[in-house]
Amino acid sequence: KIIILDFGSQYTQLIARRVRELNVYCEIHPFNNLPEFDNTVKGVILSGSPYSVRQDDAPQIDFKKLHESYPVLGVCYGAQYIAQKSGGEVKASSTREYGRANLEFIDHSHPLFKNINPGSQTWMSHADTIASIPENFEIIASTDSVKVAAFHIKNTKVYGIQFHPEVTHSTDGKQLLENFLVDICGCSQDWTPDAFIESTVASLKERLGHDKVILGLSGGVDSSVAAVLLHQAIGSNLHCIFVDNGLLRKGEFEQVLDSYQHMGLNVRGVRAGDRFLGQLAGLKDPELKRKAIGRVFIEVFDDAAHEVQDVKWLGQGTIYPDVIESISVKGPSATIKSHHNVGGLPDFMKLKVVEPLNTLFKDEVRRVGKTLGMDQALLGRHPFPGPGLAIRILDDITPEKVAILQEADAIYINNLKTSGWYDKVWQAGAIFLPVQSVGVMGDERTYEHVICLRAVSSVDGMTADWSHLPYELLAKISNEIINNVKGINRVVYDISSKPPATIEWE
Ligand code: XMP
Repeated sequence: KIIILDFGSQYTQLIARRVRELNVYCEIHPFNNLPEFDNTVKGVILSGSPYSVRQDDAPQIDFKKLHESYPVLGVCYGAQYIAQKSGGEVKASSTREYGRANLEFIDHSHPLFKNINPGSQTWMSHADTIASIPENFEIIASTDSVKVAAFHIKNTKVYGIQFHPEVTHSTDGKQLLENFLVDICGCSQDWTPDAFIESTVASLKERLGHDKVILGLSGGVDSSVAAVLLHQAIGSNLHCIFVDNGLLRKGEFEQVLDSYQHMGLNVRGVRAGDRFLGQLAGLKDPELKRKAIGRVFIEVFDDAAHEVQDVKWLGQGTIYPDVIESISVKGPSATIKSHHNVGGLPDFMKLKVVEPLNTLFKDEVRRVGKTLGMDQALLGRHPFPGPGLAIRILDDITPEKVAILQEADAIYINNLKTSGWYDKVWQAGAIFLPVQSVGVMGDERTYEHVICLRAVSSVDGMTADWSHLPYELLAKISNEIINNVKGINRVVYDISSKPPATIEWE
């Protein structure tokens, strides 16, 4: 495996994804909490950082030990750090080196630049520059403005590059990473979905033996793929629970339950809509709504879990981005939304936890799901928030509002599917606004509710842009909603990006 030491760069996860795309397993670790370096480690990549190596509080590691033992590739901050620690000089650059730059000079005698042509485009993003290098360094690539775009420490396997090979703007970045991983570190590219499935199922079998596991299915990709893997390992000793909180999309509970049953999963559907809606009655504050839903979910799940005898484990669909230990460069970030409920510990939470996907990124989970033969309709589903339609009905929630929103949302999503737009947007949904407005229907004035349509393109939900749906499609959806959903006389489209808006309205 490859170890990526994180100095807090926004691109660190992207480096890891590129390495994985080259079928090499890698792990991200914070610079200040080094993992055990055993003989499975083939090389180390040092990430970029929001810090400058010239700052007193810049992140530090035991670099000497590292580079005596492993091939090392320093990226941006990582490269500057290596240069400075070896006796070179790093200065603030006179011009901010940001954006595209071409490698005008490349020394092809170094395996790092195999199959990379002079002129290759790279992506720079740094305010510091390596002004001088020690005797035992050699420059192996330059751009017009950055002389030390890449260096090599002679007679070692230590390299530094000033640009970011992980971003797609660096057109040969992937080739460069492959050169480092394969030619320099000697990694074999055998980390594939098939290999992952085979080794994960084998280790789950060994770890779980004949123990029983319970797992909450949400209808989403992660919990579904986790369930199928566990099912392959332990068969019907996996007991799945799928809760209808009354806030799912129209028909979703039945459809998803049906597809789970077709997959052969041992799944129990629990209808608890009334319990959830009862607890939500009158609540207007989004955080109170989330807390109430979290609380009821735990109660309902705990009840269902108690019906399975002798359970030892709780299965979860946790994925790698949730467990990467992040370094808080700027202090703990403020809680923007309480995505998780806290409270007393119910029995199922005292079980041992098994998380078969906790080394995978989202796109890898989808690839594993595909290799497992899972239905594309399930794997390609948009993300859907745990509290469901509760946070898409602004203000208080009533069964009538839920029914109206389900109808409008179903018309919207069906139209996205039939027009081919569903797979082009990252997430979409309808929102029930807490306003009424005047309209005319026939000779009569109406005073009814407004539905807002939201669709965004995004990679990970952290940033998003509103999707430019065609006017004709919006017109068709708006007509269908207003003509078919009683209680709605106006439809609007949300054209805000994130930031500063969020994807959800609550
Ligand atoms: P925002 O609205 O913060 O949403 O831009 C980003 C992503 O998170 C989802 N989301 C939630 N998911 N519980 C969840 O499980 C929540 O309370 C919650 N709030 C937002 C949202 O749907 C989007 O995918």
